[in-house]
Order: sequence, then C-alpha cells, then structure tokens
Amino acid sequence: MEFFCYNYCRLEGKVALITGAASGIGECSAKLFAEHGAKIVVADIQDQLGQAVCEAIGLSNSIYVHCDVANEKDVKNAVDIAVATFGKLDIMFNNAGILDSHKESIIDNEKIDFERVLSVNVVGVFLGMKHAARVMVPARTGSIISTASVASNIGGVGSHAYTCAKHAVVGLTKNLAVELGQFSIRVNCVSPYAMATQIATNFLGIGGETLENKANLIANLKGVTLKVDDIAKAALFLASDEAKYISGHNLFIDGGFSIVNPSFNLFQYPNNL
Ligand SMILES: NC(=O)c1ccc[n+]([C@@H]2O[C@H](COP(=O)([O-])OP(=O)(O)OC[C@H]3O[C@@H](n4cnc5c(N)ncnc54)[C@H](O)[C@@H]3O)[C@@H](O)[C@H]2O)c1
Repeated sequence: MEFFCYNYCRLEGKVALITGAASGIGECSAKLFAEHGAKIVVADIQDQLGQAVCEAIGLSNSIYVHCDVANEKDVKNAVDIAVATFGKLDIMFNNAGILDSHKESIIDNEKIDFERVLSVNVVGVFLGMKHAARVMVPARTGSIISTASVASNIGGVGSHAYTCAKHAVVGLTKNLAVELGQFSIRVNCVSPYAMATQIATNFLGIGGETLENKANLIANLKGVTLKVDDIAKAALFLASDEAKYISGHNLFIDGGFSIVNPSFNLFQYPNNL
C-alpha cells in the first residue's frame, strides 16, 4: 500500500489550464498548482491582472491567455496554447464565473441578464469541458474540475440565473463523467460557501472582513473562516493522482452549510453554553 506524504509536489509534470485565474479562487489555485510542480495557463479577461499572476508564478512555468469563456474561439485557442506551449493538458479547471445583480422577483429579471449569466457560468463550463476533452481523450488521461457553488444544491442563496447555472454545472459534471470515464478522464466540481472575492464583494456591496463576518454569522461551521486557498486545496486534491478514483463528484467546501435547515436545528445550543 502506498501512502502520500504531503511535502512533495502533487502535480509534478502536469499542465493545468485555469479559467478566471486573474483573481480570487482561480489566482490562488494557479499559484498553488504551480507550487506543486504544474505548468499553468492563466486564462481570463482581466489581462493586466492575469499577466501579473504569471509574473508571480514565473514566466517559464506559466503563460497568460486572454480568454472569454463564453466565446468558443477563445476557449479553443486557450487549450491549443496549453498544448503548443507545454506539450499537453492534464488539468482543466473551469472556474470563471459571474453573478448578476440580484433582483428579488423573477418579474424584474431581464432575459438578457439571465442569458449573460448562463453564457459564462454554463456555456463557459461546457466549452471548457468540450475543448479539454478534445485533447484529453486521445491522451486517455485528464482531470476536469469546475467551480459550482452551494447554489448548486439549495435555493435562495443566489439569483435565479446563478442558481440555475450552478445546478447545471453539476449536471454537466455528472454527464461528462459518464462519457469520459471510458477514457480514464475524471470530471468533478467544487461547491464553495461564501468568500470575500471580487465577485461576492461586488454582489453584496461589502467586502473583506465585513463580508466574512456576515458569512460566519450564518455559517454552520463556527470558529473558522472560509478562504480562497481552502477551495484551491480541494481543487488540488481533485487534480492530483490522490483522487484517481473520484469522478462525477460535487465536493462541497461549505462547512455543512448546505445540509442543514437552520429553521429546524435540533442541535442549536443556547448561546450561554
Ligand atoms: N466568492 C464566493 O463567495 C463564491 C462562492 C461560490 C462559488 N463561487 C464561484 O467561484 C468562481 C470564482 O469566483 P471568485 O469567487 O474567485 O471571484 P473573482 O471575481 O475573484 O474571480 C472570477 C474571475 O473570473 C473572471 N471572469 C469573469 N467572466 C469571465 C469570462 N467571461 N471569461 C473568463 N474569465 C472571466 C474574472 O475576470 C475573475 O478574474 C466563480 O465561478 C464563482 O461563481 C464563488
């Protein structure tokens, strides 16, 4: 039996393409994957930030590519650049996502806003999966990971479009895991609870500690604060050979938030205990 010692490079020799890698979860994952020996393609629409991520990682180990995930030409190009620059693609992390401005009633939701969220959060993931599969199937290996959300499982924590999109990411993940299993390609997604990143800060109009304090107040797991590196570490696990038999899985990084109904919690101790 082989045991893993975590002081070694868990992605040595692998090539990863990460979308939405100019900030937040994607940026943190790009840096963590690189620390673990992977070559990284940083894909985003924020060119200056994306380039800065590559400079931080090291320009011999990473490359920035402008890629709007809703645009098939861009996604195809990003995958082709990964193969042309580093020789292959082992890990595709479909992480880019957007939030629409939250309107309470569906009556006030505009079709154009709904479609914009789906075009990035669902079509973008579909395109990432499609073009990753294009190069992974002939290689008979690969790990495809996408970022969903707690909104992939429960209602009321995001807009209609966002909730719909994140549910769809899980559907795509399951369906593709079935198709690509025969080629030894694993397909999974991660579902985080709230973190103080650009997307959440813009959506809620609060950032940093204020956002984290609010999130902690309604969190299930107390005494800890969810950070982007918690998601990056989960993605690292799914990307690595340690997860060699995990496919079709939606990994919640939510401290149990999405499994409890707070209006009926038998285990809620009074505050003074
Ligand atoms: N922050 C949270 O609380 C939270 C919770 C659950 C899930 N998520 C998901 O995590 C993922 C990453 O978000 P984050 O929290 O790191 O936020 P973020 O805003 O820091 O990062 C999102 C990145 O995606 C990029 N992006 C947006 N549209 C794009 C497009 N069309 N093409 C390519 N790149 C694009 C942005 O430029 C940005 O760099 C998203 O899918 C989001 O839905 C976030």
